[in-house]
Amino acid sequence: MFLIIGHRGASGTEPENTLRSFRKAVDMGADGIELDVHTCATGEIVVIHDDTVDRTTNGSGKVSDLSLDRLRELDAGSGERIPLLTEVLDLIGGRVLVNIELKGDDTARGVGSVISSYLGRGYGPEDLLVSSFKPTELSDLISIRDDIRIGVLFEDHPEMYLDFSHQIGAYSVHPGKDLVTPSLVRRSVDIGCHVLAWSVNDREEADVLRSMGVNGIFTDHPQYWTRG
Ligand code: G3P
Ligand code: CA
Repeated sequence: MFLIIGHRGASGTEPENTLRSFRKAVDMGADGIELDVHTCATGEIVVIHDDTVDRTTNGSGKVSDLSLDRLRELDAGSGERIPLLTEVLDLIGGRVLVNIELKGDDTARGVGSVISSYLGRGYGPEDLLVSSFKPTELSDLISIRDDIRIGVLFEDHPEMYLDFSHQIGAYSVHPGKDLVTPSLVRRSVDIGCHVLAWSVNDREEADVLRSMGVNGIFTDHPQYWTRG
């Protein structure tokens, strides 16, 4: 199985990290979706990549300084609103894998609590994968729930992150695509981790990664590999 995971949904054609983008990725036949989360000023877990709203909406300011009500007034593209994590989980309903990337600081506790309320309600542990570039967020999540699949993201120092992945019993490692080598894949297999590479938008590049034993890719264009 070579997983095709829609990066921020189907962000090559839709506004990233919106319900519209996630719906499109599923319609395109993606095996999973990836999304980024932050905690806003009123404590809810919201789906947005940057720590400010400046790039992806018509507003400005830090997500952590803005209330949910204020965030909901913003246009995140094509009239879409910044979604709550719960709204994405409701939309997907366990049909495909949801990879939640802990992008902001202090997101582990809120995400752990959201996950706890969805497990057994259309989601099993195999339907969710929580990743981060931040080892402390991952460790915090594990201390809250130790039954969730963890993915370790990195774009440098692969040996260090592989050691950390081994130490925490990660389900998968998520290297930037340029870091993937046959030896990185071998070492990942040795420590019991799947390899999911990001972000891949070229078919030939995907073929090379697949031939190295990579288990899946994050892509802005899931339709390149699916029936969509
Ligand atoms: O999870 C893979 C990828 O999303 C990591 O980079 O910057 O797109 O969050 P970024
Ligand atoms: Ca991400």
